[in-house]
Formats: sequence, structure tokens, C-alpha cells
Amino acid sequence: MTGELSPIDKAKFVAAKKAAEYVEDGMRVGLGTGSTAAWLVRCLGEMVRDEGLRIQGVPTSTRTAQLAQEVGIKVVSLDEARWLDVTIDGADEFDRDLNLIKGGGGALLQEKIVATASDQMVVIADVGKEVETLGAFPLPVEVIPFGWQTTQALIEETLVSLDVLGRKSTLRMNNDSPFVTDEGNHILDLHLNRIGDARQMALVLNQMPGVVENGLFIDICDAVVVGFGDGRVEVR
Ligand code: 5RP
Repeated sequence: MTGELSPIDKAKFVAAKKAAEYVEDGMRVGLGTGSTAAWLVRCLGEMVRDEGLRIQGVPTSTRTAQLAQEVGIKVVSLDEARWLDVTIDGADEFDRDLNLIKGGGGALLQEKIVATASDQMVVIADVGKEVETLGAFPLPVEVIPFGWQTTQALIEETLVSLDVLGRKSTLRMNNDSPFVTDEGNHILDLHLNRIGDARQMALVLNQMPGVVENGLFIDICDAVVVGFGDGRVEVR
């Protein structure tokens, strides 16, 4: 499954492999989205095939659903599963309090719903995602297409009163068209550089009309499995 991996892929792979140990027979498992989460899905697929692991997987995007099905994981919807034992997902940044920025892959809405419906959320990440203060990675905010420019202006005005360094936002594009999420929405990426009070930022953003969800995961993550390019793994 692995072949010759670059250091970054090795870090993602070893984190995913370690996190697969959180999954036990019979569990209902939230399956994250992104390149690190894809390693996890492949690892679980191997366990299903080679060790007879029986799990129900709830994917957080159409692309994860497709991969899970390809590797032989039984896929169910969140409403079928109702509650999950564990969700394992990647992140764009995590800090020492295990707060996260997510949504670089555009799946933050389903990811947050699924993680919140789980006994435990475990993040898998290469060590490059570890930060002192969140915000260098542009913060994704999912907005409904109707009036998105008005929503963008409202967000930018509101950022003036918050403890951030940058205030610019950009509409995420996919080639020449606005990126469309699985829920039919757009993503605004907020270039903040540093988010002083991430909890307040998350609350303020979600109060704005037109905002569906933001990519700050506050008090949701229980553990981060950190992978290194030399194959080491640490759990935060
Ligand atoms: C998708 C996400 C991803 O988990 C995040 O972008 C990390 O992706 P990768 O593992 O490819 O670095 O939040 O919405």
C-alpha cells in the first residue's frame, strides 16, 4: 500500500496507521476527508479485508464515501448510525489546546457534524500542522451562495473588531468557477494570519446570516496523532 513514500506522506501514513488502533470491531466510525484521512480509510480497508474487522463507516464527503466503498468498508449515513464511537480526521492546523482549523478540503460542514456526533474525535496530522496560534492557514467559512458578497462584506467589517492580524477574504475557486461544497455552498477563505481568540471568532462568524459553518473546531478534538517524516508518532 505504501511503496516509497516522501517524508510528508510517510508522516501522514504513520499517523493514520497509529490512529487505526482506536478502531475496534463493531464500531461506528466517522471517516474524515483529505489526504491524511485517505490513508486512514485505506488502513481500515486493509483491516476489514485481512483481519475481518467489521465496522460501519460514516464518510464526511462524497470523495471519502467513494474511497471507503472501494476499499470494502461498509458505508452508512450519519442518520443510520445516529451516534459514532470515534471519528478520525485530518486538520489544517492544531494548537496545544487541540483546537483546530479544518476545511482546507472544503468538507468542514459534514466534518464538524460528524465529529460532534462522536464519543471521540481523533485528529491525524503531520507535524507541520502543529502551531503556536491558529490562523496562518486561511480560515475556511462555508457560506450560502445567495448574497455571498454581502456576507463577505459583513464578515470583513466584523473582523475589524476582532483580535486578528489580517482581514482579507477570498472566494475559493475551482478552476474558473466558485468552489461548490457537497452541500451546494461556497467557501470564503479568511486570511487572518493570527487568531487571538478562536472561540470568540467561531461564535461571531456563526451568528452572521449567510454563514453556514466555520472551520474552527473548538473543544471537539480529543487527541491528535502526530506523524513525523522519519516514521515516529506522538500522541498529543
Ligand atoms: C478537509 C479537511 C482536511 O482534513 C484538512 O484540509 C487536512 O487535509 P490533508 O490531510 O490533505 O492535509 O479539513 O475539509
